Amino acid sequence: MIIIAVSNRVGAMKRQLHLNLFIHSRGHHEASWRHPGSSPLALTDIRYYQDLACRAEAALFDSIFLADQLALGDDVAQAARTWLEPVTVLAAMAVATSRIGMIATASTTYTEPFNLARQFASLDHISNGRVAWNIVTSWLATAAGNFGGTGQMSHADRYVRAEEFMSVVKALWDSWADDAVIDDRAGGRYARADRIRPINHKGEYYQVAGPLNVPRCPQGRPVLVQAGSPTPAAASLHGMPRRCLRPTWRRRPPRRSTPT
Ligand SMILES: Cc1cc2nc3c(=O)[nH]c(=O)nc-3n(C[C@H](O)[C@H](O)[C@H](O)COP(=O)(O)O)c2cc1C
Repeated sequence: MIIIAVSNRVGAMKRQLHLNLFIHSRGHHEASWRHPGSSPLALTDIRYYQDLACRAEAALFDSIFLADQLALGDDVAQAARTWLEPVTVLAAMAVATSRIGMIATASTTYTEPFNLARQFASLDHISNGRVAWNIVTSWLATAAGNFGGTGQMSHADRYVRAEEFMSVVKALWDSWADDAVIDDRAGGRYARADRIRPINHKGEYYQVAGPLNVPRCPQGRPVLVQAGSPTPAAASLHGMPRRCLRPTWRRRPPRRSTPT
């Protein structure tokens, strides 16, 4: 982390600059994968991502960001824009690091809320509370061809679906109380069943009984990120401000789950 000292009339004021490493292939430029100084490791070699994560953590970066799209680009012949699946990569980076925050992109349009809530709860356990989800509705039209081939949903429909998706995911994360797991080996009681509750969601797009089958994670709910410009035209989800990558690990949301 870089500290910038700014003087004013009252005295010296310190401001913190938050740094995020956006890992994208071997660099964002189309030709960066060919740079003589670039890593010799393949983009499918997990050591490439773990090494970058360790370097970012040592350099006091706040977070690492992994973007994602769900279809291969048409420039693969000359541009190395392939990578490993972000949730999987985050798990591997989590065990190689201990402090840095990590953001994985996942789509509300092409996944089910139960799967995604479970994956991010698991990642939060694996990382001991350092995970965030970059919520996207997937703008790439060709992704639709990989999920049923019925064509891309409209922008408005994707965001209506995303709203409901997020409600379900949050309810699933909250379906276990903080104190549900007892793990009392001598007494033979693993969990308090009365502290775990179904969600019984019945909506326009999803019907999800719940509860989640992963105990409540360290952050309660992983940090939510929505990348984009704060323009009036940009859709925002669940009232989240639309800014460019501003997760707030140092101001974690309060744990909210208290099933009764
Ligand atoms: C820094 C940044 C990273 C983004 N990463 C992804 C991504 O990995 N996958 C994706 O489908 N969209 C990504 N987006 C696109 C946004 O999710 C969003 O679709 C875009 O800002 C347009 O807003 P709209 O969907 O409301 O039209 C990213 C946008 C920004 C600014």
